[in-house]
Amino acid sequence: MIINKKLYNYIINLTNDKEYKYLKKIRNKKYNNINKKNMSDFLQGRFLSIISRIKNPKYILEIGTFIGYSSLCLCEGLKKKGKLITIEKNKKIFKYAINNISNTKYKNKIKILLGNALNIIPKLNIKFDIIFIDADKKNYINYLNLIKNKIKKKGIILVDNVLWKGLIIKNKKDKITKIINNFNIELKNKNYNNIILPIRDGINLIIN
Ligand SMILES: C[S@@+](CC[C@H](N)C(=O)[O-])C[C@H]1O[C@@H](n2cnc3c(N)ncnc32)[C@H](O)[C@@H]1O
Repeated sequence: MIINKKLYNYIINLTNDKEYKYLKKIRNKKYNNINKKNMSDFLQGRFLSIISRIKNPKYILEIGTFIGYSSLCLCEGLKKKGKLITIEKNKKIFKYAINNISNTKYKNKIKILLGNALNIIPKLNIKFDIIFIDADKKNYINYLNLIKNKIKKKGIILVDNVLWKGLIIKNKKDKITKIINNFNIELKNKNYNNIILPIRDGINLIIN
């Protein structure tokens, strides 16, 4: 979280957008050897849901499933026959996601692909309305290049963790912070319109 706790609580208190019971359960459940800091929180989940409900997409791609929380939030705006494809390379985490998703009304709308997103994305023959990039930071720029021809005109690309715990503005940056900073800079030089939102760890919202 990059904003202070008091301001965060103010935002939470005045946010009126309920999450389904199963989402709360997924957030609060205990998982063995899993760092839950990696997942979207309530606020980010509601943001993803609202973007999806505004866009009313047919196809969504998520790069980095984790335990399925964000996938389920993104599904909330899907068209009746819409589908979400999400990619996860860790087998143990993949199983948690399958289990979490199988208990929800979106189980037939979500396809979780197990494997490295770098190999899977080029094989996808779909044009997506929304793409959520949320896997290994070192490949963010590779993902952006790989999805270039997979996003529809006026499609939305969301990129997570672009403010990296606020470290992005420090003079002395560690390796990952430098990678994310370079990504944000490189993105600005591309032919997209984008805005960085200070939600949770920072989301770069791009319109194609
Ligand atoms: C930050 S978590 C995703 C969080 C989730 N989107 C959410 O908001 O709740 C990143 C996930 O990406 C997965 N991942 C990392 N590199 C990957 C790759 N090259 N291909 C597919 N998944 C990858 C990790 O195993 C991890 O589960």
